[in-house]
Amino acid sequence: MRGGEVDLTVVLRPMTRGDLPDVARWRAAPHVRKWFGADGESDLAAVTAHYGPRIDGTSPTRMWVVEANGRSVGWVQDYRLRDYPEYAVLTPDPEAVGVDYAIGERAFTGRGVGTAMLRAWLRSAGERYPDVASYWSAPDHRNVASLRVLEKVGFEQGAWFDEPQRDGSVATVVGCTFRVTRHAP
Ligand SMILES: CC(C)(COP(=O)(O)OP(=O)(O)OC[C@H]1O[C@@H](n2cnc3c(N)ncnc32)[C@H](O)[C@@H]1OP(=O)(O)O)[C@@H](O)C(=O)NCCC(=O)NCCS
Repeated sequence: MRGGEVDLTVVLRPMTRGDLPDVARWRAAPHVRKWFGADGESDLAAVTAHYGPRIDGTSPTRMWVVEANGRSVGWVQDYRLRDYPEYAVLTPDPEAVGVDYAIGERAFTGRGVGTAMLRAWLRSAGERYPDVASYWSAPDHRNVASLRVLEKVGFEQGAWFDEPQRDGSVATVVGCTFRVTRHAP
């Protein structure tokens, strides 16, 4: 059902190396490859080389698996923009936390999982990054579903800009910012 399901429970858990065959399959799925294709090959060896150091904690990006009613269906990744200076210079707040995501199981898209996943991520980020004033995501300007899900959970759209990709191509993306409001204890 579009827009939310009765009895839908979505949680995030830390990714392990045991999840990488699923991640490779998700990365290869056409609806994900469309937006992550510039991140390189999606075979298990390439995916292990790309995500393994993040899982091991030797790269600044943290990886999470999205579980919908107990089933692994996708992933979320987050990082401090300042840890990627060449990217941070393109953004309004280099101190922000960046977030990217994909629901790899096609059958689980368009059912409210993305919205619930981002709400779970906002709760997690609030605990893990208590000093941060904003969160940041920059979907391709054509990625209507991603722009809409960000808007639904409170991100505001800002400037469009051209983002160099790992494969040498350039994507025109929309900078989206979530302003963190904290209440005095
Ligand atoms: C983008 C993504 C996370 C959205 O999650 P989702 O579970 O499919 O989205 P939801 O079901 O929570 O829907 C959220 C909103 O987006 C809308 N939406 C979902 N898919 C849509 C589509 N293909 N076209 C237009 N709107 C769409 C929904 O209608 C809903 O808005 P509404 O409540 O106003 O009706 C998911 O589709 C996905 O992972 N796609 C492939 C990878 C990707 O694009 N990652 C992001 C890269 S920046």
